[in-house]
Amino acid sequence: MSTVLVPGGAGYIGSHTVVELAKAGYDVVIVDNFYNSKPEVLNRLEKITGRRFPFYEIDCCDKEKLRTVFEENKIDAIIHFAGLKAVGESVSIPLTYYRNNLTSLINTVELAGEYKADKFVFSSSATVYGMSEDVPFTEESPLGMCTNPYGWTKWMIEQILRDYSVSNPDMKICLLRYFNPVGAHESGLIGEDPRGIPNNLFPYISKVAGGTLEKLTVFGDDYDTPDGTCIRDYIHVTDLGSGHVKAIEYLDSHDEKVCVFNLGTGRGTSVKEAVAAFEKACGHEINHVIGPRRPGDIAVSYAATDKAFKELGFKAQYDIDDMCSSCWKWQTMNPDGLPG
Ligand code: NAD
Ligand code: UD1
Repeated sequence: MSTVLVPGGAGYIGSHTVVELAKAGYDVVIVDNFYNSKPEVLNRLEKITGRRFPFYEIDCCDKEKLRTVFEENKIDAIIHFAGLKAVGESVSIPLTYYRNNLTSLINTVELAGEYKADKFVFSSSATVYGMSEDVPFTEESPLGMCTNPYGWTKWMIEQILRDYSVSNPDMKICLLRYFNPVGAHESGLIGEDPRGIPNNLFPYISKVAGGTLEKLTVFGDDYDTPDGTCIRDYIHVTDLGSGHVKAIEYLDSHDEKVCVFNLGTGRGTSVKEAVAAFEKACGHEINHVIGPRRPGDIAVSYAATDKAFKELGFKAQYDIDDMCSSCWKWQTMNPDGLPG
């Protein structure tokens, strides 16, 4: 069975993807510098899968240290998650974002080429569709007009990988554009564990529901949507994990040099609907107030899912209620996140 290297595998999406890879029978090697994750996640992964995966605490920006992973393991494919992802922070410290996200990617793909690990999956984002209002976003929708440095790193890396694929005839690349990943593993053992006060909707609602934060501010109810609040395509992180397994299988069986897929459900949920769904899951009201719009937010974002369905065989299995109940389970089992 082939071995998949997962840089950033201790993080939120990476850890859920490791579970799905293990379920599908892959060997996994994890690299992470724990910048935004904790070593405890490795114990949790062992509890869930019954396997202890080889792990390297390495910053992917350190190419020579990263090389040891390729020297010590025969890597067949890579799923690259190792990047910084906080939109607001990327505006305050843009150079840190460009340095980390680009260098980490360039080092990894360069070593992938050198060591003939020639299937490469990259965590891109719907953020590459920028401020466009032409929904649903298809893989052919125009790119750019990103609203922040984080988004531009995704846009730039997509281009870097396209350029690299031209120069390396053996390399096959899959760009996965995630919509809004939420939820947690059904065991409640792993989930999203942000540092400090969360920026994203679901981690914030969870903390309000759990009593750690006092109230949610809904960012604007004057959008041109049925209830006035923004609409997003939330996708369960376990579905996202299986999407990555499908991507590896796709690269194994197709000759395309670069393929691109949206990973979403194709269904939009408004902020008010998300709050109501979470209230149902946790059994009590979520204290919330309406506040001003957040700069950079678009009214509506959801994925066209036909291409991922037809070509990748990917269809999300979980709905918004599953996302909320798994999130709530994770929150109640780990009110302060993972220890450490
Ligand atoms: P995360 O922060 O939980 O996981 C990223 C992991 O990478 C963390 O464990 C972090 O410690 C590690 N890391 C960061 N820089 C590193 C480096 N230089 N060397 C080694 N490890 C490093 O984030 P996530 O939500 O799991 O996201 C994973 C990827 O998916 C990111 O690239 C992110 O931009 C992308 N993405 C996330 C979302 C989302 O909503 N969560 C949406 C679209 C795309
Ligand atoms: C954000 C990023 C996006 C990134 C994605 C995943 C911005 C502008 N976009 O997407 O680039 O890929 O996270 O990390 O930051 N909301 C509230 N109150 C809150 C938090 C959020 O009302 O306290 C609303 C937002 O206005 C939005 C929706 O909830 O309409 C979802 O927000 P969020 O979870 O932050 O995701 P996005 O903004 O879609």
